[in-house]
Amino acid sequence: MSLLSFASACTYSKGTEPSPCNDPTPVTYAKTISPIFDASCRKCHGADVYVTLGGGNDYSTYEGIKRQSSRLLLGSVQHEAGFAPMPKGEAKLSACDIEHIKTWIEAGQPNN
Ligand code: HEC
Repeated sequence: MSLLSFASACTYSKGTEPSPCNDPTPVTYAKTISPIFDASCRKCHGADVYVTLGGGNDYSTYEGIKRQSSRLLLGSVQHEAGFAPMPKGEAKLSACDIEHIKTWIEAGQPNN
């Protein structure tokens, strides 16, 4: 994965355009990311179901999500060409949720 090209594709959250989110609180796994996964991902990627419904991708925990390539995660939630669009078979996450995931990855995926 090229971190450089990834960073340069993320100018969106660096102030060139207004953020779609109205909350300046720092994005953490516990406060922001886990609730997004609860709401939109864990019915397929939760501990009890990821083998049968989530293609073997376990995102039930902080560690499970961190283990996944950030590029793959972002490509999937942004429905980029060449990535498996997620949530599978459903509409894209809200612009704010996607922004939160980006911001979290840029911040080094803080837990708390
Ligand atoms: C309806 C079930 C379902 C939901 C909801 C879902 N996924 Fe998936 N996900 C899958 C399946 C099945 C796969 C295996 C690849 C495939 O079949 O497309 C997968 C694969 C992935 C992959 C790996 C893609 C790859 O190329 O290896 C990522 C990343 C991912 N999901 C992220 C998410 C995120 C983030 C959410 C929530 C926003 C989510 N998924 C919601 C079923 C789901």
